[in-house]
Amino acid sequence: MTNMYEVRAGIALLTLDNPPVNALSHALRRSLAERLARCLADPSVRGIMLLGTGGRAFSAGADISEFDSPASQADPSLSSLIQRIKNSSLPVLAAIDGHALGGGLELALGCHWRVASGKSRLGLPEIHLGLIPGAGGTQRLPRLIGVKPAYEMMLSGRPVDAERALALGLVDGVLEGDFREQAIHWFLALLDSGRGVRPSREQPVAEDALPPLSDRTSTHAAQALRRCVEASIHQPFDVALQLERETFATLEQSAQSAALRHGFFAERRASHLLGLEAGTRPLPLRQIAVVGAGTMGSGIAMCFANAGFAVSLLDVNPDSLARGLSTIRQTYEDQVRKGRLSVEAAEGRVRQIEPHSGFEAIADADLVIEAVFEELAVKQTVFETLDRVMKPSALLASNTSTLDIDSIAGFTQRPGQVLGLHFFSPAPVMRLLEIVRGRATRDDVLVTVLDLAKTLGKVGVVARSGDGFIGNRMWHQYLRQASLLVEEGASPMQVDRALQDWGFAMGPLRVADLAGLDVGYSIRQRQYRDYPHQRWSGWLDRISEAGRLGLKGGQGIYAYPEGSRQPAEDPVIQALIDEFRREHGVVARSFSDEEIVSRCLDALSVEGIRLLEEGIAQRGSDVDAVFLNGYGFPRAQGGPLFQADQAGLPALISRLKLRAAESEVPFWTPPRLLCNLAQRGDSLSAYEGEGR
Ligand code: 3HC
Repeated sequence: MTNMYEVRAGIALLTLDNPPVNALSHALRRSLAERLARCLADPSVRGIMLLGTGGRAFSAGADISEFDSPASQADPSLSSLIQRIKNSSLPVLAAIDGHALGGGLELALGCHWRVASGKSRLGLPEIHLGLIPGAGGTQRLPRLIGVKPAYEMMLSGRPVDAERALALGLVDGVLEGDFREQAIHWFLALLDSGRGVRPSREQPVAEDALPPLSDRTSTHAAQALRRCVEASIHQPFDVALQLERETFATLEQSAQSAALRHGFFAERRASHLLGLEAGTRPLPLRQIAVVGAGTMGSGIAMCFANAGFAVSLLDVNPDSLARGLSTIRQTYEDQVRKGRLSVEAAEGRVRQIEPHSGFEAIADADLVIEAVFEELAVKQTVFETLDRVMKPSALLASNTSTLDIDSIAGFTQRPGQVLGLHFFSPAPVMRLLEIVRGRATRDDVLVTVLDLAKTLGKVGVVARSGDGFIGNRMWHQYLRQASLLVEEGASPMQVDRALQDWGFAMGPLRVADLAGLDVGYSIRQRQYRDYPHQRWSGWLDRISEAGRLGLKGGQGIYAYPEGSRQPAEDPVIQALIDEFRREHGVVARSFSDEEIVSRCLDALSVEGIRLLEEGIAQRGSDVDAVFLNGYGFPRAQGGPLFQADQAGLPALISRLKLRAAESEVPFWTPPRLLCNLAQRGDSLSAYEGEGR
């Protein structure tokens, strides 16, 4: 960090210089406070301008990595820095070029004036971290733009663009062209017109009724936010500010915020490859092609179109190609109907997807993603063709969810450029992208697709090749426990409800119905062969064998009367389960919801730990990022391994030993890595493997 101080035409330029996003670390706060004091003592200075470096961000807010450490409150705290700015005898302008988020926007709100470049985004997203704005935002924003819009902005955590910020009165001008020069001109003109210091707190807050919180939005942080915004109406500024500070401090200590902050860093850490050689650069990706226009292929093509790429969609079968294109068109039309996309944008995206039926047409693509039928022989034909046709530098990816990437790479003469890109269904919606690294996959190829994941708005997580990669391998153990719990006495509805009440987006048996029981059935038949020591409960297979397909067929583990997507208990299934228990001599017992949740979560943790031991997952936080983004794990619980850490590793070991004593020894035996970490007092979610 440089300690930049520059005076131009009487304007002191104080640069926030803490790349990449100018988080307000203690070092930056201290440097700003020192430079502010210097300005105030400098007679050549008429006004002070704060600006970010690099054009990416003014500031992304408080340094989240400092939370829970003394640095977050070390002098000057963010609040005291803002206080000094507000009390400055010289006018202070925040010149926002890029993101002004959280404490970054609060810093700007403490300035007397604000201008922004057209590309800027301003917001208070603290709610996503289980927090409220803690440096005056809950008091200054309502005073500036009105109670209701301020409350809505803080409750949603969604930033606004510069144009909207201007309309709301959040900024005083939007400037185009050379932003820094324009901001200096704007400020000089303001000062020449005789205007200057303008404290925001003097403006009264208009009384405005706040909309009620819905069940979905009513978190601890949302309730706290509401109390603070109400205080902005009814309490004197200083009293309300004190309430905000105390509330923030309490939330900062909460388990929920710790979990959400873990999720934030887990997703970002996942984008860094461990053991990467310095200087490894991503390769250029301009032209993209997708092979196979089925549900996955079409969905993947849409992901690229949504991110602004032109993409070729190839299917050698003209009917499949036509069906795929028609699904794509229909999906965009639905979005237009729901008001999520303009007609022009939808048409534009359809045009970005160019259909082809011959491989020669895609020969120049930089990246091809294969999404054809999930059978090795079919993949072999496609990859041999791609290897022959595609330019030598092209990367070849498979969307396989089950097959071995090294076998697929073996069909080509360029195994270093072959990898898995496992999109989840529906591809345009699901954020997770598992990046499967074969034995030969080159690091620059992995770096390229990790960058690509970000461009597509996805969370890319690298996994080594292995049955089920990270997510599905853990998922199957989780579903297996759900099935065993039902065999032993719980009902499917109780299992699902217990996990849903705990926070999962959906219970595992309902998900099995949604994914299609036939799909799970065929995977299980293979698993019985490959892992004979692992016991599944056969009642699930009997449902498939009875021809029930799940939601798509109107009946599965549940009944879905008259096309409803809502599951209803089905007496036929209860009878089938009872029959199964009778045949196997199982005396049903009752389970508490806590027991159900604990057993299913332990299954996830233990399999996650084995993935780390085997080097299939790089880090503990990667495992959490997978479950948060692909499997509906509640964000406010941080992920399976974060949860295990919170509950304590010795407690997990004791539970596993008990389970092993009662049932399956190989599965529940505490993994060695877990015992080692527990002994050292280390955590699972912070564990990192060796990389290459
Ligand atoms: N603190 C610490 N590190 C941060 C950070 C922050 N506030 N914001 C981003 N970073 C880090 C990321 O971890 C990442 O690190 P890495 O390079 O080691 O992986 C790096 O900055 C770049 O971040 P992204 O990969 O997310 O970059 P993008 O360009 O995709 O996104 C962004 C930029 C939109 C600014 C995004 O980083 C973001 O949303 N940041 C968090 C914003 C936020 O939540 N601010 C509120 C903080 S809490 C607060 O201010 C409390 C206050 O009220 C007192």
